[in-house]
Amino acid sequence: MKRVLVLNGPNLNLLGTREPGIYGTTTLAQINAKLTKLAEDAGVKLDTYQSNIEGELINRIHAAAADNTAFIIINPAGYTHTSVAIRDALSAVKIPAIEVHLSNIHTREAFRSHSYISGVALGVIAGFGPQSYELALQYALHRLASQDAKSG
Ligand code: DQA
Repeated sequence: MKRVLVLNGPNLNLLGTREPGIYGTTTLAQINAKLTKLAEDAGVKLDTYQSNIEGELINRIHAAAADNTAFIIINPAGYTHTSVAIRDALSAVKIPAIEVHLSNIHTREAFRSHSYISGVALGVIAGFGPQSYELALQYALHRLASQDAKSG
């Protein structure tokens, strides 16, 4: 079964109560449940992982290379704007990655406009709340289905 990994960075475990005016009231568990169902319906296994620790996110990216993950959907959260190391991990494993953000990082503080991750991502989806993840997954599922059609 094809696998997609959804990775979430620091403070996203607090979704639901964290700055609801910016990030909404949906919890990470609710987002992950919805994504799991969408993937399952398409015959794809969804793995989810959240960490507040940069090195743990990097280790999980490395592990994805070993378990044949076909796509990574990543919200690097605050590490978006600081982490050369997460960018390097994504480059190293060469798994297509889609960067997502709940908020539109380009309409907020200037420091949020720069992402270290975008340069190695297939694309970026920002500003649509929990739907940012769903749009990214929709794209990944579409790509996986068209790969199947070509190989099958
Ligand atoms: C975020 C945007 C980041 O700037 C911020 O540090 C986050 C969440 C988002 O999903 O909108 O933690 O990635």
